[in-house]
Amino acid sequence: MNDLISNVLSELEEQSDLEKSRKIDVKPQDRMLAITKDTGELLNIILRLKNAKNMLEIGTSVGYSTIWCAEAIAEKSGNIITIEQNPNKIQRAKENFQKANVSNLITIKEGSAIKILEELKSQEKHNEFFDFVLIDADKENVIKYFDLVFPMVALGGIIITDNMLYPEKYRKEMKKYSEYLKRNSNVRTTTSQIGNGEEITVKIK
Ligand SMILES: C[S@@+](CC[C@H](N)C(=O)[O-])C[C@H]1O[C@@H](n2cnc3c(N)ncnc32)[C@H](O)[C@@H]1O
Repeated sequence: MNDLISNVLSELEEQSDLEKSRKIDVKPQDRMLAITKDTGELLNIILRLKNAKNMLEIGTSVGYSTIWCAEAIAEKSGNIITIEQNPNKIQRAKENFQKANVSNLITIKEGSAIKILEELKSQEKHNEFFDFVLIDADKENVIKYFDLVFPMVALGGIIITDNMLYPEKYRKEMKKYSEYLKRNSNVRTTTSQIGNGEEITVKIK
């Protein structure tokens, strides 16, 4: 990994640790709420194993997960579309992408995820287009996000969903989601213990 990327990831990990330990006081809407470092490593490895080029992310925050993913697809001239509605976080994400020198790979779509996903889905070119998707925005819409994203995922494509196990306040919602996936014969899915609990779902038909 090059120094620019690893320095930005380290800075953001430090910031995330301070927020989680409440050593610094950050307004709830400005908290990073980022994936863990081991989840970043997992995403990076899956993207590499898959030779993924086209990624969609729902929930950019300040760009920590996006940078982990950009690092894996940079060599393949891949692209990431990432969705975020908080203007302050979008500004911070843009600065972080510039510092990590990955801005050229990333398009930020600003606004409500459902509206943006509907727009993307309505464009023919996105039909079975993405080979990797990260769902990591508000948890109450997780099933809706999956349903909107699914037609845009290529056969063999992977959908990762964060927060399956932690924070515990989401567990009931996320269990419903995982049961919903298990009933779907078009996917194979498993809940991994890594990080905050990652659902790893593969589109098999
Ligand atoms: C858990 S954080 C994302 C963390 C990021 N993936 C990372 O690991 O670095 C969720 C983000 O989704 C955004 N979000 C929540 N609901 C949204 C919605 N309906 N539309 C767009 N963005 C949304 C929040 O503003 C927040 O920044």
